[in-house]
Amino acid sequence: MKLLVVGGGGREHALIRKLKENPAVETVYCLPGNGGIARDAVCVPIGATEIDKIVAFAYENKVDFAVVAPDDPLVLGCVDALEGHGIPCFGPRANAAIIEGSKVFAKDLMKKYGIPTAAYETFDDMDAALAYLDSAPIPIVVKADGLALGKGVTVAATREEAREAVIEAMRDGKFGASGNRLVIEEFLTGPEVSVLAFTDGECVKPMVSSMDHKRALDGDEGPNTGGMGTIAPNPYYTDEIAEECMKTIFLPTIEAMKREGRPFKGCLYFGLMLTPKGPKVIEYNCRFGDPETQVVLPLLKSDLLTVMQATAAGKLKETPVEWYDGAACCVVVASGGYPVSYKKGYPITLPDSVAPDVYVAGAAEKDGELVTSGGRVLGVTATGKTLEEAIKKAYEKTAQVGFENAFYRKDVGARALAAKKV
Ligand code: AMP
Ligand code: GLY
Repeated sequence: MKLLVVGGGGREHALIRKLKENPAVETVYCLPGNGGIARDAVCVPIGATEIDKIVAFAYENKVDFAVVAPDDPLVLGCVDALEGHGIPCFGPRANAAIIEGSKVFAKDLMKKYGIPTAAYETFDDMDAALAYLDSAPIPIVVKADGLALGKGVTVAATREEAREAVIEAMRDGKFGASGNRLVIEEFLTGPEVSVLAFTDGECVKPMVSSMDHKRALDGDEGPNTGGMGTIAPNPYYTDEIAEECMKTIFLPTIEAMKREGRPFKGCLYFGLMLTPKGPKVIEYNCRFGDPETQVVLPLLKSDLLTVMQATAAGKLKETPVEWYDGAACCVVVASGGYPVSYKKGYPITLPDSVAPDVYVAGAAEKDGELVTSGGRVLGVTATGKTLEEAIKKAYEKTAQVGFENAFYRKDVGARALAAKKV
């Protein structure tokens, strides 16, 4: 079989490694991929949003199955276009990917179907938004409606900060058209849990839960990033909470999308907050999370390609999705200065003994050598019987990789371990 994976980060690297466990897979093309992925797949320099070129490539190369991983191509209709050319695909069509593509859509959906989430107001006029903030409770959260490279959310601790976020989005166009409409919502508190779920539009099968570490520095200090590490499973997410989420959030969301005529097929990511009033949805993503995927997939016992094909064909219900016991930890190694500014082109030390546990996010091949080409450069993953063991192994391996100016958080999993002990 020939597979195609659209995207080019650590998530895609993890997907490709797992897909290749199926012996029927002969070739995996990755568009555009990266220097590290090139060691596991055939990388083709076609951008993830160049839909016409992706479709032409898939068609000409007789791709049997495609996986569209990032948000932008999904929202732009990459799956619709591939399916239109008869290529089976894992991923939602554009009319379902809107669940991530528009926060206003997601919030209105939850309101209409009684799915627990933060109270909110929607604004497409700056003066109205600012007037609302004059008397709104603080802290408060300001969110750009559209995709904003994960940077469209401001958790404002003061009224002034909230006003600035509104002005930057609506007057200064910080997020382009994505910021023309805003959601302003209630500030919630509680541990956060990421739950990715396979769904074919009828049936939903949640994956192992996970915990992201979004801030750049230890102790959850420093600026927000694309994610500095993950662990799975998330100890806050007990069996009782999982059952409650299934009843109040997962099934109602799948049903709501179906009723709206937007059946969701693919991986639906539930960003949850376990508030004192029960689990609530913080955000939906229409795709696998990054770097959540790097800890979730190593714990998948079932064959990923089989599960993805069943999802695409609407046969998820009769397809077993099984998980290993145990835990996983992924430590992201970033380039000094990330997420603000950083240099590229540093040669990467990556011994063969750890390479199979490293998912490359931002590296290029130069004269046969791997050099950094992004802020988040790679993620080092380990599994273990316990979370303690997984964390220890991940850090032992992380110590063996590196490049000039590299840094990583030393406390990935620490909060999870503390929670387990309570
Ligand atoms: P981002 O990854 O940029 O979308 O940021 C989302 C993060 O903002 C979440 O992981 C939460 O930590 C935080 N957040 C979003 N909405 C809320 C909310 N209503 N209350 C508190 N924190 C929130
Ligand atoms: N790790 C968060 C995300 O993928 O959006």
